[in-house]
Amino acid sequence: MAVQAGALSLAMSDEHEMLLAAVREFAQREIAPVAAGYDESGEFPLDTVRKMGDMGLMGIETPEEYGGAGLDTLAYVLTMIEIAKADASHSTILSVNNSLYCKGILQFGTERQKREWIRPVASGAEIGAYSLTEPMSGSDAGNMTSRAILNEARTHYIINGRKSWVTSAPYADRIVLFCMTTAEAGHRGITAFLIDSKAPGFSRGKTEPKLGIRASATSEIIFDDYACPVEQVLGGVGQGFKIAMTVLDAGRIGIAAQALGIAEAAYAAALGYARERQAFGAPIGSYQMIQQKIADMKTRIEAGRALIYQAILAKQRAEQTGGRYTTEASMAKLFCSEAAAFVTDEALQIHGGLGYSKELPLERYYRDARITRIYEGTSEIQRMVIARNELGMR
Ligand code: CAA
Repeated sequence: MAVQAGALSLAMSDEHEMLLAAVREFAQREIAPVAAGYDESGEFPLDTVRKMGDMGLMGIETPEEYGGAGLDTLAYVLTMIEIAKADASHSTILSVNNSLYCKGILQFGTERQKREWIRPVASGAEIGAYSLTEPMSGSDAGNMTSRAILNEARTHYIINGRKSWVTSAPYADRIVLFCMTTAEAGHRGITAFLIDSKAPGFSRGKTEPKLGIRASATSEIIFDDYACPVEQVLGGVGQGFKIAMTVLDAGRIGIAAQALGIAEAAYAAALGYARERQAFGAPIGSYQMIQQKIADMKTRIEAGRALIYQAILAKQRAEQTGGRYTTEASMAKLFCSEAAAFVTDEALQIHGGLGYSKELPLERYYRDARITRIYEGTSEIQRMVIARNELGMR
């Protein structure tokens, strides 16, 4: 596989091929067999998450000096697809550690912060989280009420507030938190903090009972006079909103890859069933109505893959020039998440009543795919971002 854009090209190296084979084998051997059980119980799969850490998958793009695997975005995408094929919940946990937590500290942290805060999470020894959303602000991310006030001695920020929908929060050891330091400054008054969840003043609220990705734990987190040392401000006071948005650009490529992985798993099942299932004296795949579904599913999957590769190239270009790849990341996330909805729905339909049964993973793929149109920015927000950038409007 090779994709070209300007002077940049995206090609599978021997290292990518080896990683792909190793992750695929691991995901099918260790994760796929336990996915339905974890989905049913809603338990956090700590055992297999630790194994992903042992394989170096919890900090794929993090340099080795900070405890990661030192690979590139293509390696991250290939991994996300393979893990999501086996189980979307595992890929959600993996994506938060990799992109939402490590990425921001790598790009905006001081050398000391990188050494202290990245290694435990990139190595998989600890779980990371990213906390932007609040009960009254999701899409309108700049409108938050959590407050951080500098104490008189100017040594600590005293944080108070409640954040919601924090992926991995029930198990997170460390969290990148966004809250207001200057309320009257709007989004320019938001600051990012590095939070130790074992410190006093931190607690967890209700865990969300979810439709899908049920083994990925999501909860509220509560700050009650949490004293955060000034050394744990990430990227400068008032820089939080830009950090949050920059991190989400990278995160959205990961969610696109997750959606593609779920779609691929559903598609593979549908293809096999269409070949084997007999009706009216022939395999159902011989009928044009099923063939139309197969053709449309395959076309959307490959179109989604092309958008992901385009986004990776745009990210590489932006990293060289200091520009942004917001539009490409949003297009990949928007298209792949909607393709996953279409593909999982059609794959379930091809299976008929069997697809609706918990005996097969089709209904789980269908439920798991749904979140990819919501988290890290809804489809409506992705359309808004793409259109605003195209129109040159904000
Ligand atoms: N990169 C860098 N900077 C960016 C940026 C980006 N992608 N997007 C915007 N900015 C900057 C702008 O340049 C602007 O900078 P100035 O202050 O210098 O002018 C500033 O941020 C404000 O930009 P906007 O005026 O465009 O901001 P807005 O308030 O209109 O909203 C938005 C922008 C795109 C709608 C944004 O609020 C957004 O993405 N919302 C969705 C949030 C989201 O994805 N939430 C999910 C959270 S994570 C999650 O799902 C939970 C989990 O644990 C997985």
